[in-house]
Amino acid sequence: MQRESLLASLSALEPDQIFESAKSAKAAGSSALNGTIGIIMNEEGGLLRMSSVEKSLKSLDDNEPIGYPPISGIPEFLDAATSLVFGKEITIPRVATSGGTGALNTLLKLASSAGVKKVLLPTPTWPNHLKVCSTVGIHITETPYLADSLPCIDSIIEEVAALTQPHVLLMQAGCHNPTGLDPSQDQWKALAKSLKGTSHILLLDFPYQGLGKGVQEDAEVIQICMDAGISFLIAWSASKNHGIYGLRTGVAFAVVSDSETEVIQQHLDMISRSTISVAPVTGQYALSITQSKFKKEWLDELAELRLSLDKKREVISKMLPTLSCINTNGLFIKLPLSADQIDSLKSKNIFLNPNGRLNIAGIPAERIEELCKAIAEVL
Ligand SMILES: Cc1ncc(COP(=O)(O)O)c(C=O)c1O
Repeated sequence: MQRESLLASLSALEPDQIFESAKSAKAAGSSALNGTIGIIMNEEGGLLRMSSVEKSLKSLDDNEPIGYPPISGIPEFLDAATSLVFGKEITIPRVATSGGTGALNTLLKLASSAGVKKVLLPTPTWPNHLKVCSTVGIHITETPYLADSLPCIDSIIEEVAALTQPHVLLMQAGCHNPTGLDPSQDQWKALAKSLKGTSHILLLDFPYQGLGKGVQEDAEVIQICMDAGISFLIAWSASKNHGIYGLRTGVAFAVVSDSETEVIQQHLDMISRSTISVAPVTGQYALSITQSKFKKEWLDELAELRLSLDKKREVISKMLPTLSCINTNGLFIKLPLSADQIDSLKSKNIFLNPNGRLNIAGIPAERIEELCKAIAEVL
């Protein structure tokens, strides 16, 4: 039946590249090497379940996840996440969100409510950044993230200095997706200093805390921005560091002056109430129990995970020295492969994202050499 509607004016959209590649990898069966979506797999090719988090989930009271939580989220969860991000409990505007993506949405809406209509986005980046900005209605200006295969913070600082209207500067706090290459502490200090006294707002996307150098070490960038005395926003996620992707657990934090705390909290709550009302709670409970009862075990599991990623990086660097991925952090490496080369790998049952991003946490350690040989053949 033909129905008249303005909705018919909408044009077709490309499917999400990452979910699409993950679908093809899954369809290829259990022997396929799946370096597509950013999840952490175990050696058997299944989803890695953290035992600290499993125990917390099992100890949940049946009734707990059923009722409505406060709009901002479960207080114990918010306190635990605040301690992880800031190294201690502090009073700060914050709201529980539906994962890190929800936190990005919330914070971009907050910036937009404050009159910021543009974002400066160093690229390459996580492709979903572009989608989130555009659905929030924020205009994107891209700027290069790398020069000579290193983060080029000086040129980002110059770019920001030349902006004539307030912008959000959307940076990844660590374990850069897709390159794995992060700014040095000196670079972060220079960037934070350059933002002081400007009307631009730094938004740090922080979905990989603990998967780079360590839980505290990865949060040093937060401390640098705190010490610089700037207002900034943090989109934090528990999806990866607690392995609870589908439980949609995250927090949007706003570091602002004490006098602004109450009003900014009201705005964060209002954004949540009008979009998702309240964030899902099962992950919030799981995280607060993990952090209060099983923290040591959780930290050990993360340390083991980082070690396994480092070992994989060592093998890749040895077997494919031109890729020099030894100094990367986190899950991802961006391979300099053409679409044809990525297709040739696909014909060998090896799946990457179309931008050449490889998730090394998706490849079992015992198959890393096989992966490197296959990449060498197409390079
Ligand atoms: C750079 C980056 N930001 C944010 C996220 C958000 O993750 P989630 O919404 O699943 O918590 C991800 C997940 O892949 C990511 O890679």
